[in-house]
Amino acid sequence: MKKIIITGANGQLGRAINHFYQNSKEFVCVNTDVAELNICDITAVLKFVEEVKPYAIVNCAAHTGVDACETDVENAFKINAIGPRNLAIAASKNQAKIIHISTDYVFPGDGDRPYTEFDTPGPKGVYGASKLAGENFVKEFSKDYMIIRTAWLYGEGKNFVKTMLRLAETNESVRVVGDQYGSPTSAKELARFIGYLLPTDNYGLFHGTCEGQCSWAEFATEIFTQAKKTTKVEAITTAEYPTPAVRPAYSVLENTMLKMTTDFQFADWKDAIAEYIEDGIL
Ligand SMILES: NC(=O)c1ccc[n+]([C@@H]2O[C@H](COP(=O)([O-])OP(=O)(O)OC[C@H]3O[C@@H](n4cnc5c(N)ncnc54)[C@H](OP(=O)(O)O)[C@@H]3O)[C@@H](O)[C@H]2O)c1
Repeated sequence: MKKIIITGANGQLGRAINHFYQNSKEFVCVNTDVAELNICDITAVLKFVEEVKPYAIVNCAAHTGVDACETDVENAFKINAIGPRNLAIAASKNQAKIIHISTDYVFPGDGDRPYTEFDTPGPKGVYGASKLAGENFVKEFSKDYMIIRTAWLYGEGKNFVKTMLRLAETNESVRVVGDQYGSPTSAKELARFIGYLLPTDNYGLFHGTCEGQCSWAEFATEIFTQAKKTTKVEAITTAEYPTPAVRPAYSVLENTMLKMTTDFQFADWKDAIAEYIEDGIL
């Protein structure tokens, strides 16, 4: 069996990747989270990768607290930039592939069309800046890399879908930002794409999001409709919901590289919500 080291395996994407490979006869996941392998520790990373001798490393570990990153700057860069750098060095030394996950928040979001892989990033906050630094380190220190930028991820763990469904239990209406646009993506769909790409030699930078786009308010409305909740959504402006981190207004990603180089298709964002609710991982 070919070994795949999963870092941050307890997170949303790490769990979804484990589900994807659970019946695989070709690949087996070697799961690690911060307790077993702190990706910020270069010595520990090199030792672990040398021992396991994996076919690939999939880096699902990250500091994903977008607002917290604004004040926890050193940790944000340690986990989101130095961590992937360490993994890239270890992958390169051990002839392993590396798949690294990045974000739509590397873009400023002030345009009016979806971003492709050929657009120039320009993050607005610490989270996006640290993730962009991570991408650059992976490009600098490894050769056989696949960097996948995703967005608005939900799976097993803390996420927007669960928050909305929890609020629906006790609220007749919720106020949700209606002027920030993105592409909600289920961890299951992203894991399916990772599983598709990983055995190939199709290296480089990819956008990987579900098809279609919406605002957070439209996302919430769709969740309530599909979960048969009567809770109403009141769309508010970003100015009415100030947060420590400035978020991009329009960070929709076009999966251009994927479409130009593969026949893989992500599900539509609404269909992915339906599947998520059907899977019952709420
Ligand atoms: N969530 C989103 O909406 C979103 C959007 C775009 C891109 N992404 C990217 O997608 C990827 C997966 O996100 P996710 O939502 O699955 O993240 P997640 O649920 O927050 O999981 C991240 C995991 O990494 C662990 N971790 C933190 N620091 C670590 C360290 N130093 N060493 C090893 N593990 C560490 C976390 O442990 P603790 O929980 O104990 O800290 C957690 O188990 C990330 O690269 C993220 O930046 C996410």
